[in-house]
Amino acid sequence: MFDSVDGLQRTHSCGALRREDIDQEVILMGWVQRRRDHGGLIFVDLRDREGLTQVVFNPEINDQAHAKADMLRSEFVIAIRGIVIPRPEGMANPNLPTGEIEVVVEELRLLNSSQTPPYELEDFKVDTSEAIRLRYRYLDLRRPKLMQNLLLRHKAAQVARNYLNSQGFVEVETPILTRSTPEGARDYLVPSRTNPGKFFALPQSPQLFKQLLMMAGLERYYQLCRCFRDEDLRADRQPEFTQIDMEMSFITEEDIYAVVEGLMAALFREILRLEVSPPFPRLTYGECIARFGVDRPDRRFGLELVDVTDLVAVTEFRTFADVAAQGGIIKAINGKGLARLPRKELDELTGFVGIYGAKGLAWIKLTPSGWQSPLAKFFTPAQQEALNARLQAREGDLLLFVADAPAIVHTALGQLRLHLGKKEKLIPPDTYDFCWVTHFPLLEYDPEAKRYVAMHHPFTSPLRQDLPLLETDPGAVRARAYDLVLNGNEVGGGSIRIHHRHIQEKVFDALKISPEEAQQKFGFLLEALDYGAPPHGGVAFGFDRLVMILAGARSIREVIAFPKTQKATCILTQAPSEVDVAQLLELGLRLDR
Ligand code: AMO
Ligand code: AMP
Repeated sequence: MFDSVDGLQRTHSCGALRREDIDQEVILMGWVQRRRDHGGLIFVDLRDREGLTQVVFNPEINDQAHAKADMLRSEFVIAIRGIVIPRPEGMANPNLPTGEIEVVVEELRLLNSSQTPPYELEDFKVDTSEAIRLRYRYLDLRRPKLMQNLLLRHKAAQVARNYLNSQGFVEVETPILTRSTPEGARDYLVPSRTNPGKFFALPQSPQLFKQLLMMAGLERYYQLCRCFRDEDLRADRQPEFTQIDMEMSFITEEDIYAVVEGLMAALFREILRLEVSPPFPRLTYGECIARFGVDRPDRRFGLELVDVTDLVAVTEFRTFADVAAQGGIIKAINGKGLARLPRKELDELTGFVGIYGAKGLAWIKLTPSGWQSPLAKFFTPAQQEALNARLQAREGDLLLFVADAPAIVHTALGQLRLHLGKKEKLIPPDTYDFCWVTHFPLLEYDPEAKRYVAMHHPFTSPLRQDLPLLETDPGAVRARAYDLVLNGNEVGGGSIRIHHRHIQEKVFDALKISPEEAQQKFGFLLEALDYGAPPHGGVAFGFDRLVMILAGARSIREVIAFPKTQKATCILTQAPSEVDVAQLLELGLRLDR
């Protein structure tokens, strides 16, 4: 029943034909997207990687082909030979690059049939669960949007490689079977058959290898590398993901910023035809937290956080006065024009900040007759005026307050700001805002472990002038670390590294990593530091996140060919899976359930 392609050589892709090709004989191959029978004429939208072309079966031109076309169904694979003709007057489709022409078929070959797909492979209505889509990923990828995402991803990888090559970077592959790397997530472990009882860890990043490459004298390294992290998943996190990973020797932060800004400019120019304008603004970590409540600010809209502790601590409103007396802070955001929000929505917002630990959300509406608020009676007219002035409050505005320990205030208001920004559509579409976040704290206190942990990773260099604080006030030491933030997404992060052994040991000490433990885990790095390690630093980008933003996708799963589910499984191959007892025995493993 099936034909072969013998004697037929594809002449064009399904996205190629234009008005200039009219009267040409062409041979196309692809999948039937849709078949429409218009009594007499049969129309098929033929799809391949590059696009769609309308092909027409006309019984008056070729009776046999027309008869055969009757049995075509969605996703059948066909080859056609035909002549390009203009679409009849008024029938052109301006939304389709090939929309001015159609191909009238002289020969049809059926190359394969298809079961009815479990759902319609259309871009405009994907009402199927993601589980079904992932189970049939090879079908889902046929959807033009997803195919476009893969093509864009390929192009982005090429642009990145070309740019980095032009800047003297050398791509080097680093091991996948390695030992634990210190990015702070859980490791994926691989048992060693030849060394029973021992395990490899899959790399969370090539961090230590790229530093060793600097010590080897490579000077400029990059790699599009896979990283593996066993952590809780979200829309922008996968257990295995790709980084554009880079490292440079004999540099300062400025060199890294310049290379990265060039890379971003190249990506936006080549992929979106947009000029981004380096240098990107820089904000310190402290400023980000103070103004936006988070360390990856989305600066495309207002609603910034404003400290009002001094103004409200002296009022009769006990909640605020008490929080201030206990060393807490009170911050507010001015929801411009949001006084219209009804009480019910304010209650919802109160519930929202509750998720982040806020004990309440005080509000003030600026109405034509002044403040409308449960707080109004506690504030004198002068106090009201001072607060209005601090928050630049005008009639129609809604002021929202959280009083608590700084960490809770910042997280709660920072998330509320993002929530309102999205809900009230304050974010202008198709805008791209880059910024650098600098001067992160080197360490953060982990109350569970009762010790400091590295905020970036333990090889990050402290700021030279903060070094003495390592012993006296470790939490105050700032790092030579930076993140690149794009539209509120952390797309990359890196640091200048420690290249002197005694400083590395001091940092291990502050992290309560004993010399024995340091030797056992990172002895090879410490040793390499002793053999002429050059000053170096680097950065790594979440390639999936970058491509997601470039593609306008909502989740990185949309730009990864075979992503994992939220539960870190692959529905398509049903991994992870059980294994034979024999295989376990060979590895010296026994399951206890
Ligand atoms: P970091 O851990 O910040 O740094 O990772 C760099 C970038 O990788 C992306 N990313 C992820 N993307 C998808 N899924 C994940 N689970 C995931 N985790 C991280 C983010 C992040 O900015 N070795 C250091 C870099 C360096 O210091 O040079 C590192 O890996 O976009
Ligand atoms: P109450 O005095 O508990 O009736 O609260 C009056 C208003 O203050 C309500 O809108 C509460 O949501 C709000 N509120 C209570 N505690 C806090 C807090 N810690 N921070 C901000 N607002 C609060």
